[in-house]
Amino acid sequence: ASVVVLASGTGSLLRSLLEATRQPGYPAQVVAVGVDRDCAATEHAEAFDVSSFKVALGEFADRAEWDLALTEIVAAFEPDLVVSAGFMKILGPAFMDRFGGRIINTHPALLPAFPGAHGVRDALAYGVRVTGSTVHLVDSGIDTGPILAQEAVTVLPDDDEATLHERIKVVERRLLAETVAAVATRGIVSDGRKAVIPDERV
Ligand code: GRF
Repeated sequence: ASVVVLASGTGSLLRSLLEATRQPGYPAQVVAVGVDRDCAATEHAEAFDVSSFKVALGEFADRAEWDLALTEIVAAFEPDLVVSAGFMKILGPAFMDRFGGRIINTHPALLPAFPGAHGVRDALAYGVRVTGSTVHLVDSGIDTGPILAQEAVTVLPDDDEATLHERIKVVERRLLAETVAAVATRGIVSDGRKAVIPDERV
């Protein structure tokens, strides 16, 4: 399966996915990396000889134009899947029309708890003892799409946002690579609310 990855930040999830795709037999390849700002994700793409592109919101007249431009450039790579790995923009209606049902996002909390841009900080502030990582399909809401995989991470008494986020990211990196491989191999069955990756055939 071919994958376009969208990222906005340090790109450590992107990098671990790129590493996974270079393992023998991994069933998906990253064909392009898209960013919405200058960020380290582009350097990871270069290091792996993967093309990259930038579609910055500020360079367009409005959000609708930005949405169309992002949709067109991603579509040009004809990906089977789109992975949002720390992409800090909400995808627009044109993008959802084109790629809905095959966009995978990773969120650093156990959804539906603590959606939004500060999932780690909000979980800490609430005082939960367990949080974690969620890999889910993107729908038109914010972190509301059908869940594909989840794993818990224990909150330690001395955690701050940085230490907790880093432990969650260790889980996110593995869960994302496993989920992309599973979806690439076996697909997704979804009724709109729930999504399941069918069991491996034996
Ligand atoms: C991850 O925790 C992701 O879930 C969140 O942003 C972080 C991205 O980390 N939305 P990185 O830029 O890949 O290191």
